[in-house]
Amino acid sequence: MKIITPAAALGAAILLAGCATPASAPKPDYDAMLASMLHASFRDQGIAKAQRLQQDAANAACSKAMGAALPEAQAQALREAAAKSVRWPADGKFLGDWRAGEKLAQNGRGMTWSDKSAAPDANGGNCYNCHQITPGEISFGTIGPSLLHYGRQRGVSDPDSPTSRAIVEFTWTKLYNSRAFSACSEMPRFGHAGVLDEAQLKNLMALLLDPKSPVNQ
Ligand code: HEC
Repeated sequence: MKIITPAAALGAAILLAGCATPASAPKPDYDAMLASMLHASFRDQGIAKAQRLQQDAANAACSKAMGAALPEAQAQALREAAAKSVRWPADGKFLGDWRAGEKLAQNGRGMTWSDKSAAPDANGGNCYNCHQITPGEISFGTIGPSLLHYGRQRGVSDPDSPTSRAIVEFTWTKLYNSRAFSACSEMPRFGHAGVLDEAQLKNLMALLLDPKSPVNQ
């Protein structure tokens, strides 16, 4: 550890005082400066549109808070708005094919200017970038919690049974719009943002909740 001597501290204080901005100078509007820099550097290219720079209410509030907790009333309002955005599967079936879900979880492609199609089915879920999921995958990120044994740990032996309903609905909601539970969640809002479609979400649900999925072995 570097020891700061009183003399060095005094020197630093004098230096700081010398550079300090006079109190009367107007404070620069850093948010506006950043916004104009972003708008000057980004343009529409291919399927990637500069429109993506527009923040919605939740993005704006969470960026402004810079990692600090939002006031509870504001956080609750954002969670409620996120929960309202969630659409249940049209046919009432929440689980698809876990094999297709595993491929999606591994696939981090989509939404860049060089991708040909903007359709959700051209996108991957990129889940391993933040989560451990199956034991077979040796490379994964840790921004999110491990999802290994996700269904088994939560006692889901039959995802269609009424006792599993709460876990099934929680998981669908989390995938559809993660902000429904955590106002400033770092997890992409896969359904709400149109990153993945309903069939893809069902396949990811099966990966996490189907007792036959490698996640639950
Ligand atoms: C950029 C990082 C990131 C990506 C990508 C991501 N997640 Fe998450 N996920 C998180 C974080 C962080 C949490 C913890 C809760 C929160 O902050 O929202 C989480 C929580 C979860 C939960 C809830 C876990 C629990 O026990 O409450 C599930 C389920 C989940 N993620 C599934 C997925 C799936 C499936 C994918 C891929 C389609 C995915 N996540 C992609 C960051 C991510």
